[in-house]
Amino acid sequence: MTEFGLTQMEIKKVGVLGCGLMGSGIAQVAAMAGFDVTVLEVEQKFLDKGFAGIEKSLAKFAEKAALKETPQAVRARLKGTTSKQDLADCDIVIEAIIENVEEKKKMWASLDPIVKKEAIFATNTSSISVTELLTAVKRPERFIGLHFFNPVPLMKLVEVVKTIATAPDVYETAYEFGKKLGKVPVRTSDKTGFIVNRLLVPYLLDAIRAYEEGVGSIEDIDNAMKLGCGYPMGPFTLLDFVGLDTTYYITHVMYDEFKERRFASPPLLKRLVMAGWYGKKTGRGFYDYADPANPKAGTF
Ligand code: CAA
Repeated sequence: MTEFGLTQMEIKKVGVLGCGLMGSGIAQVAAMAGFDVTVLEVEQKFLDKGFAGIEKSLAKFAEKAALKETPQAVRARLKGTTSKQDLADCDIVIEAIIENVEEKKKMWASLDPIVKKEAIFATNTSSISVTELLTAVKRPERFIGLHFFNPVPLMKLVEVVKTIATAPDVYETAYEFGKKLGKVPVRTSDKTGFIVNRLLVPYLLDAIRAYEEGVGSIEDIDNAMKLGCGYPMGPFTLLDFVGLDTTYYITHVMYDEFKERRFASPPLLKRLVMAGWYGKKTGRGFYDYADPANPKAGTF
């Protein structure tokens, strides 16, 4: 029973769609929490890459004595697959594939007839409407958002997103599941950006606008927010960390929803994305990562 007196279903087996940065992180925390996890990818090479990252992260946790068991024991609960049939008996499936409405809908529509009908479907989307995605399945009342933060093994938050169609017992089961993953769940509803991006995205875009207006250099704006406000990363370091392509995509979805300037992409962000400078992952964004230990701030 939950604090609201609702009966929860028992979750034992977790399916994860996508073994990229977010998918592999979600799979890792679920396995660390004791769940059996199956991760789906389109090709074995993506599973290999994701699992290599998980092993590195587990080794770090073990080094700090932050694991209750050996990395091998956690790893033994993780299975990779390229066959959707292997997800048939999952109790919850969490999707963390490319942030594209059509791709996500296609994935959910193809899984719906395969996965048992009591299973909960959760999307890790950061900006797409959860309500739009649930139209792809025949179990809208069992569809929710579970939004994790990068790097998933370290960030304590998960946003649990309710839609107008979500059944209360499904929502409470997902909320409690978030706790069992070792996260702090927060309740939110399906409004674009949920809580974190609603507040974070305008802040990041304002930092770019401040730079465009000559308020300060990239390094000085980063240092100002880090040292003046105690943020772990300055806005430009965080933009490069999240990915400028990802942020640019989110601005479009948020601007489309709210039609407010604070969600609109500043010209410089668009120029960097057009140039293919997506941040840390491409070696260049607001900073140049040629020497990764000493990123060099750009001047634009
Ligand atoms: N697994 C296990 N351990 C890890 C790890 C991993 N993946 N990555 C780092 N660690 C460990 C390190 O070994 C280190 O351990 P010690 O303290 O024992 O040395 C510790 O974690 C801290 O790591 P670092 O020293 O490398 O770096 P840090 O202290 O700067 O912390 C950080 C890194 C947690 C990422 C921190 O900088 C931070 O919180 N940054 C902000 C991140 C953030 O805002 N994320 C949200 C982005 S928005 C989003 O994701 C949503 C969206 O929709 C776009």
